[in-house]
Amino acid sequence: MVMAELNIQEKMIVKDYENKINELIDKMTTEEKVGQLNQSLPSIFGAFGMTKDEIIEKLVEGEISYEDFQAMKRDYHKDDIRKGLIGSMGGITGAELSNELQKIAIEESRLGIPLLFGLDVIHGYRTIFPIPLAEACSWDMELIEKTAEIAAKEASAAGIHWTYAPMVDVSRDSRWGRVAEGTGEDTYLASVIAAARVKGFQGENLSDPDRVLACAKHFAAYGAAVGGRDYNTVDMSLQTLHEVYLPPFEAAAEAGVGTFMSAFNDLNGIPCSVNNYLLTDVLRGQFGFKGFVVSDANSIAEVVVHGKSVDRKEASKKALLAGLEMDMSQGTYLQDLPEKIINGDIPEEVLDEAVRRVLRVKYQLGLFDNPYRTDCNLEEKTLLAPEHVEVARKMAQRSIVLLKNENNILPLKKDLKKIAVIGPLADNKKEMLGTWAITGESEDVVTVLTGIQSAVDKDTEIVYSKGCEVTGDVDLDFNTAVQIANESDVIIAVVGESADMSGEASSRMDLNFPGRQEELLKALHQTDKPVVVVLINGRPLSIPWAAENVSAIVEAWQLGIESGNAIADVLFGEFNPSGKLVATFPYSVGQVPIYYNHPKTGRPASKIKFTSKYIDGPSEPLYPFGFGLSYTTFKYENLLISASEVTKEGKVTISVDVQNTGDRSGEEIVQLYLTDVVASRVRPVKELKGFNKVALQLGETKTVSFEIEIRNLGFYDDAMDYIIEPGLFKVSIGPNSKEGLEGEFIVVDY
Ligand code: BGC
Repeated sequence: MVMAELNIQEKMIVKDYENKINELIDKMTTEEKVGQLNQSLPSIFGAFGMTKDEIIEKLVEGEISYEDFQAMKRDYHKDDIRKGLIGSMGGITGAELSNELQKIAIEESRLGIPLLFGLDVIHGYRTIFPIPLAEACSWDMELIEKTAEIAAKEASAAGIHWTYAPMVDVSRDSRWGRVAEGTGEDTYLASVIAAARVKGFQGENLSDPDRVLACAKHFAAYGAAVGGRDYNTVDMSLQTLHEVYLPPFEAAAEAGVGTFMSAFNDLNGIPCSVNNYLLTDVLRGQFGFKGFVVSDANSIAEVVVHGKSVDRKEASKKALLAGLEMDMSQGTYLQDLPEKIINGDIPEEVLDEAVRRVLRVKYQLGLFDNPYRTDCNLEEKTLLAPEHVEVARKMAQRSIVLLKNENNILPLKKDLKKIAVIGPLADNKKEMLGTWAITGESEDVVTVLTGIQSAVDKDTEIVYSKGCEVTGDVDLDFNTAVQIANESDVIIAVVGESADMSGEASSRMDLNFPGRQEELLKALHQTDKPVVVVLINGRPLSIPWAAENVSAIVEAWQLGIESGNAIADVLFGEFNPSGKLVATFPYSVGQVPIYYNHPKTGRPASKIKFTSKYIDGPSEPLYPFGFGLSYTTFKYENLLISASEVTKEGKVTISVDVQNTGDRSGEEIVQLYLTDVVASRVRPVKELKGFNKVALQLGETKTVSFEIEIRNLGFYDDAMDYIIEPGLFKVSIGPNSKEGLEGEFIVVDY
């Protein structure tokens, strides 16, 4: 918050708590100060000074009994809370437990500083929404903000103050499992979504007990891990860092995000948790960020494993000096910092400033006045409230992307005689929740099978067979699957990935259907009955055989608790699909990283041999960024550009008429791409610079306009100065990154 932006009353409040913070800091011992920078977990992680692996080893060797092990898991470090050695706790859920621990902090610690409870509330607390990648495919900012708002409301009712979200890492590599948690490959879209999620989580005022503090993570460039292998090194030019990977973080900062999380990876040789350039120069300098930074789990101690520090003491010192305020979960700061401060190795003012940043956020959350923001009654009535479930269905419908619909086989009629629902994910609850649904419950999920059963007429017979498992080749049941398929009018095959195949530490080196699922699809295809594939997955997959051979493909991702209902809504036409891909689908993993906004090569792919392509497969994607079909059709015409010449300080308005030319109402996501034709550095072939989702009735036409400020069309030059160069810009406006009406304008220097 900038003081100048506040009204007088707000300024008084800020002054008041700044005074209180300083008074508090004056009273604190060094240990208590470091305590505020320490986040602790209740589980075996970090308890008794042992790591999880050490404890498990001792358990296996019989050195720790099972009873002791259970007790360790329940260690909430109450004594440390009493001693003021814990500023924040992760992994605590439930109003009762959080209030019990808060009471110890408030009533039994010397200074009564409230605890800050943090948790990964990534796509819902109890009402689990689609995975973030899926939500992004809705391109619907209002709804994305709404799901974050509901997640905040439920989490807060369950005693949480702080979510480690939004994850705003751009990634161009779908081998990386964490693409599921992000918003895909585009920087502009990621930035708009980052702001919407921050607003949804935090609202206007952090002290509103229905909201939670947000955290932009993982700072920075975590999504560019070499080889798509999680935690791996990241090496990139500063220009790419600032043009592609940092803008979503800046957007989160501008939206007022209260915290940032440092990433696990090193960036150009410096681990992010001790990266002065990132945490101070960029974050505090360039972004003007006023909140605090938390490490990723154990990432300060891991600086030693990176070989960047000789021991944890040195790593802790480097992290604090670089601008990292809170140590997540391994007690590194707590063990190592006090000595460094007492020795004078780190100036006390550095510590005080870090503590000030943490306490300020606690004040902003209102925790000093209202440390118990919830109770069990509120928790019970908030979690899974019917209006939350309704939004979950709406969001799930809009996250679906229709990739293929040969001969308009979809939507299906509800009065077909017999439908075969086949596949390992057809009657599954757990896998629909996706990654990071720690507080979700499988029992809340509507499976695809159930969704279909409730959508069709009562005389329609639904037959089901699992066919095979998601992975491995055991328990194949192709025969039953083929038999029921033969007896049916249509086959709905629900295939893809299990939830744990994406998310953290779940990188894949293959992007095909895992296990025997493609064989199952081939067997079903042989029946000559139409096959509708419903994909359940956490990343773009390479599925060229399915794309070529089956009748329809519905990309449903992992849609959360309302999966089955939303999928049935699309299959039977209750909802006309409108989602568009936010990440490119490759033909083969060998094409990865493949993304639409790549820099121009000197030899673009063509029929000529010596051009940029593969000898054993296409260089084009299977499905491009921005692609998605509808049950209706849209026509684009009358591209208008307000001026043929525009100054660097000016604006240009670009508009197009979009008409619904099909036979039902629908929504279209109109996308605007620009290309800087000649520049002093090689620029991307095109870049998304605007989008607009419009609802169109039958035959209706709407004019969609974009106002483009030329100052946003710049880039970083060799000296890392942001510049806008004069010259020709090409415009493409259309339904995806491959197709569109084309025009141009010139940026002039006078
Ligand atoms: C992940 C973070 C997460 C943290 C706390 C880490 O392993 O990288 O995204 O917020 O754990 O659960």
